[in-house]
Amino acid sequence: MNLSEKSASVPPPSADFVPLIVPEIRGNEWRYIKDCLDTNWVSSVGSYVDQFEKLSAGRAGTSDAVATVNGTSALHIALLVAGVKPDDEVLVSSLTFVAPANAIRYAGAWPVFIDAEPRYWQMDPAQVVEFLERGCRWDGQSLRNRQTGRRVKAILPVHILGHPVDLDPILAVAEKYAIPVIEDATEGLGAQYRKKSLGGIGHIGCFSFNGNKIITTGGGGMLVTNNAEWAARAKYLTTQAKDDPIEYIHHEIGYNYRLTNLLAAMGCAQIEQLDAFVEAKRQIAKRYREALASLPGIHLPEEADWALSTFWMYTLLVDEKKSRIDSRGLLRELTAKRIQTRPLWQPMHRSSAHDSSGSPPCPHADTLYRQALSLPCSVGLTQAAQTRVIEAIVNLAG
Ligand SMILES: Cc1ncc(COP(=O)(O)O)c(C=O)c1O
Repeated sequence: MNLSEKSASVPPPSADFVPLIVPEIRGNEWRYIKDCLDTNWVSSVGSYVDQFEKLSAGRAGTSDAVATVNGTSALHIALLVAGVKPDDEVLVSSLTFVAPANAIRYAGAWPVFIDAEPRYWQMDPAQVVEFLERGCRWDGQSLRNRQTGRRVKAILPVHILGHPVDLDPILAVAEKYAIPVIEDATEGLGAQYRKKSLGGIGHIGCFSFNGNKIITTGGGGMLVTNNAEWAARAKYLTTQAKDDPIEYIHHEIGYNYRLTNLLAAMGCAQIEQLDAFVEAKRQIAKRYREALASLPGIHLPEEADWALSTFWMYTLLVDEKKSRIDSRGLLRELTAKRIQTRPLWQPMHRSSAHDSSGSPPCPHADTLYRQALSLPCSVGLTQAAQTRVIEAIVNLAG
């Protein structure tokens, strides 16, 4: 039995199940991947890698892009090329998927967790400024955390759920102290901050193309920057730091973080459809907004007037004091109706995997974690399926 026969025998998911978020594959994916197979260019170099890098740089508005095996490796390399050294500190959002905090540890540095602001749920720029101006001291060469004595070497704002972080105050204080800003724009591909594409605004931007992102390569990542020297160094570090490709001579420890041509081919096909995918996500958000806005205790995601959100993930808050149901109760009831939903991530300052003793308090991240629930929002979500989700929520929380 070959694998296609085997997979054909796996029963399809039942027709009434509404998943949280699944890939949308309806463009040139088959054609480009077949081209790789037909030409034997399936591995870690090839024209699709080059093309995917060009297209990604074009979307971010940067001069350079370096493809990586996933988003976490892009973040790891971004921290290294930005000069983060062991025992440095990096300011990062507390309310995020764990990858950026882990990447900081891979570089031997320590995360300082910054709270979310309560309106758009993004890294709070006021707390960043307050921490750098008052929680740190200038030693003549660098900023040092007053509490830990460690050097603060970078700021890593994570644009979550498709909405931008308010970057200007962060960029201003970063410039004052010559600290690089690394945007984790993984959840913000296609979104804009003051009409600029996320990822291309700070000194480096990172993306992931894992299965639930707005475009996917199955697994993959990208680092974008306007700093050609940093881009060249990122390419070097992601390709095993090879100094002589014939003699295999290495002067540094490198990483095998390359994206294959096969996956880059899928990325090229997916990025061609990005605008249509953003539009679909925004339509889904509009329908949820129209249907759910008046439910008591339900807070819907807002879009700042300086933002274009993709609503990559459609997440609402359930205020348990004003609603008939709390977020986890709603999750359980919707699960019983075969509708998949999910809370946000445990905030990083609560994670026992990470040390938050040098971080300021993060009360808003705690509240958001308790109240948030993400609803089905695949690009291909049908109106019928969305109506089912809406009716179920209106029945449970109305
Ligand atoms: C904000 C954020 N950063 C980084 C990652 C990690 O990307 P990857 O899974 O491609 O390593 C993810 C999701 O997976 C994410 O949501």
